[in-house]
Amino acid sequence: MKFCLLTLISALLVASVFAADAPWFCHDLNCPVFTNQTVDNLEVRSYPSFLWSSTSINSTSYDEAVMTGFQRLFDYISGANIDSKSIEMTSPVLVKVLPGTGPNCNSTFTVSFFVPFEYQTSTGPPKPTSGLIFTETIGPLDVAVMSYDGFSSQSKVIHMAKDLYESVSNSTLLSLREDDGSWFSAGYDPPFRVVGRHNEVWAAVKLSSNATITPTFHGSS
Ligand SMILES: *[C@@H]1O[C@H](CO)[C@@H](O)[C@H](O)[C@H]1NC(C)=O
Ligand SMILES: *[C@@H]1O[C@H](CO)[C@@H](O)[C@H](O)[C@H]1NC(C)=O
Ligand SMILES: *[C@@H]1O[C@H](CO)[C@@H](O)[C@H](O)[C@H]1NC(C)=O
Ligand SMILES: *[C@@H]1O[C@H](CO)[C@@H](O)[C@H](O)[C@H]1NC(C)=O
Repeated sequence: MKFCLLTLISALLVASVFAADAPWFCHDLNCPVFTNQTVDNLEVRSYPSFLWSSTSINSTSYDEAVMTGFQRLFDYISGANIDSKSIEMTSPVLVKVLPGTGPNCNSTFTVSFFVPFEYQTSTGPPKPTSGLIFTETIGPLDVAVMSYDGFSSQSKVIHMAKDLYESVSNSTLLSLREDDGSWFSAGYDPPFRVVGRHNEVWAAVKLSSNATITPTFHGSS
């Protein structure tokens, strides 16, 4: 009974959130909704659970892994699925970085495309023909976010992630949710967009009980 009620409430909540304004950097693409607030000068977002299409790459290079992952997922949405369907492009391209242990150890990069709202159902999106692509649920997830503009790069994104980790460590109201050193990058723009580019790094966090929560909604449809 409790479960049904919760499911219903979250369905209503998501429905109302869809009507809200999406952030400008989504540029009218389907984009996951979130609530956000400022905690210790950091933006903290709460994402509900959503489906993502993902692929993992074991590599020493962020740039190389993202390129490989993007190409696999782009093929998938361009028709490499059992329905031969073209699936619309969404935003952002999310990359989860799980650093390898020890020197010269490869990291695991999981590159993900947000599943369009029409496929955010129990059936999910069309099944990929490639065994390297899987559908996964990400969230509910609280993340501390740092945003930056311009073109991103491996050195830039790593610099931002270090800065973010340091800011979270300095905060008395936030702590890291995972102790595996993992973090995310989110890219919102195709390479040909020259101005108004927007990039983010995320760290999964927990809020301490004395943090006051006054979230606002940011939706997308
Ligand atoms: C919440 O997100 C919106 C959209 O990105 C942004 O305009 C706003 O400044 C954010 N608010 C906080 C408290 O970070
Ligand atoms: C480690 O990364 C390198 C370079 O990115 C890649 O060529 C190699 O295949 C990776 N090793 C494994 C075991 O996946
Ligand atoms: C990369 O692949 C190698 C060989 O399969 C494995 O030993 C290593 O744990 C992998 N690294 C990561 C970070 O997944
Ligand atoms: C974190 O705190 C240290 C020590 O007070 C300070 O030097 C550093 O600049 C802070 N870092 C960030 C990103 O706020």
